[in-house]
Amino acid sequence: MTSQPLSNYNVDEIRNDFPIFKQEIYGKPLTFLDSGASAQKPQQVLDAIQKCYAEEYANIHRGVYYLSQVGTQKYEDAREKVQKFINARSHKEIIFLRGATEAINLVAQTWGRKYLTTGDEVVLSRMEHHSNIVPWQMLRDEKDIIITVAPIDDKANFLFEEFEKLLNEKVKLVAITHISNALGTITPIKKIIAAAHRVGAKVLVDGCQAVPHMRVDMQDLDADFYVFSGHKLYGPTGVGVLYAKEELLNAMPPYQGGGDMIRSVTFEETIYNDLPHKFEAGTPHIAGGIGFGAALDYVENLGFENIARHEDQLLAYALEKIQDVKGVHIVGQADHMAGIISFTMDLAHPHDIGTILDQDGICIRTGHHCAQPVMDFFDIPSTARLSLGLYNTRQDIDRFVEGLNKVNRIFS
Ligand code: ALA
Repeated sequence: MTSQPLSNYNVDEIRNDFPIFKQEIYGKPLTFLDSGASAQKPQQVLDAIQKCYAEEYANIHRGVYYLSQVGTQKYEDAREKVQKFINARSHKEIIFLRGATEAINLVAQTWGRKYLTTGDEVVLSRMEHHSNIVPWQMLRDEKDIIITVAPIDDKANFLFEEFEKLLNEKVKLVAITHISNALGTITPIKKIIAAAHRVGAKVLVDGCQAVPHMRVDMQDLDADFYVFSGHKLYGPTGVGVLYAKEELLNAMPPYQGGGDMIRSVTFEETIYNDLPHKFEAGTPHIAGGIGFGAALDYVENLGFENIARHEDQLLAYALEKIQDVKGVHIVGQADHMAGIISFTMDLAHPHDIGTILDQDGICIRTGHHCAQPVMDFFDIPSTARLSLGLYNTRQDIDRFVEGLNKVNRIFS
């Protein structure tokens, strides 16, 4: 048994904030172990969204009347909460978008299109999510850039020395995950950023799986671009963040044209709006932004360090328990991991594992996790994946392990 639960982190009380846990699935308690795909929402977030639509709704940035002013204020407050949450220098560096995928595409289609040219190199890692591969391939097809891939070892550790060998003056961008969504590996992102900067490359970090599990600090990391989604951080779907250094955003062309991103328009000329609005064309996801702000209040209130410690303890507990199950193979056991365990079983295909666990109300993700190149590296088509959230308990892990034993009983 690993260390005792934190005395100031009452997970049973915390679970009461999440209405979804009040129901049973097939008459069984809901055991939700798929927060890496999308996290559940606390009542506080649902209330903020409800209040926005029921009491304070109007379009924002456009109205001189009360409701529009209130909405604008709350939306911009949410931006400042994000700024503080990641310790960005300015609210101008926080661009609200649909999610991390849109953020990466924005960087590829604006910064990438403007600043990358034939023969320039973009370094990715073997562990990237498709959303941090395909936008660069699309750009490669257009601009003749070269994509190189930083390798990992058999435990899914990021091989920093090998990565360094890929760096040279032709590398203009390094785009790498902070935590692998498929395997849970934490990459040495601060060292990666510093090394890339030494050859003059910019760095984009996919922080989707990191921000729910660890505090990230933009000024300390010195990332040029850092992207994440709200829905994995207990907020609504359809809202996410592109953090980018102000000078980069100022030097980038806009992504989409439309309302809100302009200062003035004539048929001859358009003058773009100031940051951050220059990158936010059209009516934004108002309730989503406000709900995301409430989610950040929620996690800050619990204490982000407490959440991280709770999840680290649970991960250690899960790693210990899962190894007792016959025929389980953990895929990727890096020296530094957070929140995620990927595995296969001798007797059952991942989809069968997922289906059998589902019968007991246990939710895990199965498949290639939108990371086919890393599945190819391990020479497997798919894995089963457990991913943790701030509301998970040891009981969840015990039920999950019992579910795996059931899989073995059914298939033996
Ligand atoms: N990228 C999400 C996941 O890892 C959907 O499951």
